[in-house]
Amino acid sequence: MRFDLITLFPDYMRNCAQVGVIGRAIERGLLGLHCWNPRDYTDDPYRRVDERPFGGGPGMVMLVDPLQRTLAAARADDGELARVIHFSPRGQLLTQARVRELATLPRLILIASRYEGVDQRFLDQHVDEELSIGDYVLAGGELAALVLLEAVGRLQAGVLHSADSAQQDSFGESGLLDCPHYTRPEHLADGEVPPVLLSGDHAAIARWRREQQLLQTAQRRPELLAHARLSDADKALLKKHGYVV
Ligand code: ADE
Repeated sequence: MRFDLITLFPDYMRNCAQVGVIGRAIERGLLGLHCWNPRDYTDDPYRRVDERPFGGGPGMVMLVDPLQRTLAAARADDGELARVIHFSPRGQLLTQARVRELATLPRLILIASRYEGVDQRFLDQHVDEELSIGDYVLAGGELAALVLLEAVGRLQAGVLHSADSAQQDSFGESGLLDCPHYTRPEHLADGEVPPVLLSGDHAAIARWRREQQLLQTAQRRPELLAHARLSDADKALLKKHGYVV
């Protein structure tokens, strides 16, 4: 899968994308990453990409022309059709369900804007979708674009060591949070490993993990239960622990 990032901070984005599973996937050619800087697509002698907003007010607004030219250059670099995403607190909230859908596409162009925003005419003409990563305001869309790159990138074939890792995720197929995990040593002053995990009884371990997923979701994010895939046994377990589903 190919990602094109439109950003005023290409070095920062490349550096961040160099580490961990995503960095390795880029090295191995499983993910393509191309950065495009709007400052390279302006005729302005000072490479300006922003202006004061019409109507007054604080901050600066990104100009249509450099963004339009940058996007055209990115699109022309590869015949593959791309979905264009702009990051903004005004966008739809990014969810794992949307991440899974986006992961099926061959190419995404991600626009990280700075300043107070982008001239609305550019957004109306060229952007397919606006996404937010949460109800808080960042200084720009770079971190949001990296969040999407990592969330979508890790679902591509071969990126994770085992496809099961993604299956087990919080918000996976079940719509529940992940269960707790333990590793060596078995005994610590700070607590013990739940004995069932040491039992070798795979059916009992699977039951315990499912129970933990259900209880943790009920305690921490009860609103997720409304859309989770729950069996009758799941519902009975939640009821036994005093949760109404
Ligand atoms: N840009 C600034 N804040 C943002 C947010 N919460 N999500 C996505 N892009 C942003």
